[in-house]
This record gives sequence, structure tokens and C-alpha cells, in this order.
Amino acid sequence: MFPMVPYYNLAELHEILKPQMPKPYSGMWEVYSEMIPALIKQCSDPNYYTKRDIPHALPVPSNDTKMSSLQPDANGWVAACTDDEVAPGDFLRFDVGPRTFVVYHAEDDRKFYATAGKCTHGAADLSDGLVTGNLIECPKHNGCFDFKTGEPKRLPVRTRLATFPVKVYRAVILLTLNVVRPCTTSRVR
Ligand code: FES
Repeated sequence: MFPMVPYYNLAELHEILKPQMPKPYSGMWEVYSEMIPALIKQCSDPNYYTKRDIPHALPVPSNDTKMSSLQPDANGWVAACTDDEVAPGDFLRFDVGPRTFVVYHAEDDRKFYATAGKCTHGAADLSDGLVTGNLIECPKHNGCFDFKTGEPKRLPVRTRLATFPVKVYRAVILLTLNVVRPCTTSRVR
């Protein structure tokens, strides 16, 4: 789940993440008494899943905001990078004032996309995550979003990620912060 964390730091990582995880099972009996009825129900309803309470995300610490001197023009457009800085399948973080964004270069249609840079679940930096196809996976709890639409695709994320229109002008990738497709809550299984 966290392949870059050395094994001797897992205990410390566990302490940090524990308050944000579902309550652990008390033993194998509790696991099987939930798992076996769920497997039986899935025989007739493949979409059935076990609902577990997930704690609310922790507030973002106020000192987590870094300031960039980059500012949008009068029409709200701001230059993020040049097109050769983001290879197909890759993505790039950039900041405007105190806000952070991510620009993506989709492999399938070779177009550029942009989203807010903070996960809507626990405000982790999505630029530290992983892109697979059109999905960005959050590095903190492995929630996923479709970066083209902002739709949440894997729990624990439930709230849509804001996305921003992008245009390429003379090899420069610009996005407008005036038009934002807002965060809304969607159902994810
Ligand atoms: Fe929890 Fe992103 S911070 S999934």
C-alpha cells in the first residue's frame, strides 16, 4: 500500500494514519462473521458490499499552504507549464498564490487536463500520487479520481475533485481558474 515507506517506519506510519482508518476488527471471528454473510449476499447481488464507518478527514493544518508568486491574468488564465514538460501519462503540480493544482497529459486522447491539487478526502497532495490510465490515486489512503471529470472512483473519496478548463497556446499550457467545475458529492463503492 505504501511501497516507498521502509518497513522500520511502518509502525510510525500506522500511528499517524490510525485515527483516519475504520475501526479494526477485534479478531478472526469478527472478520468471518462479517465476510461470510457478505459473500453469500454477493452470490445474488454482485454489487453488495459491506458498509464500514470511515472517520471524517482531518482538517488541513494552516501551515500547509505554501505561497506561489504566480497569478492569473485579468481573464483568469494562468500559464502552468509547456507541453513538453508533461509527457503522455505524466502529470505536474503547480501553485497559484496559496492554491495548488495538477496538470495531466492523458495517454489515450493526448489532451491536457487540470484538477485541484488537494485530495477532497484528507487534503493530501495529489501530485505525490500515481496516475494509471485516467485515474489519479491519492498517496494517503489510495482513494481514486478520474482526472478528466473529477469523479471519485474509489473510497474513501466521495467528493468530486474540482476540474479546470485547459488550453494550449504556442506550446504553453494555460488553465482558467475563473471557470471551475465544482466539488460535489457522488456515491462511490
Ligand atoms: Fe484520504 Fe486522499 S486523503 S484518500
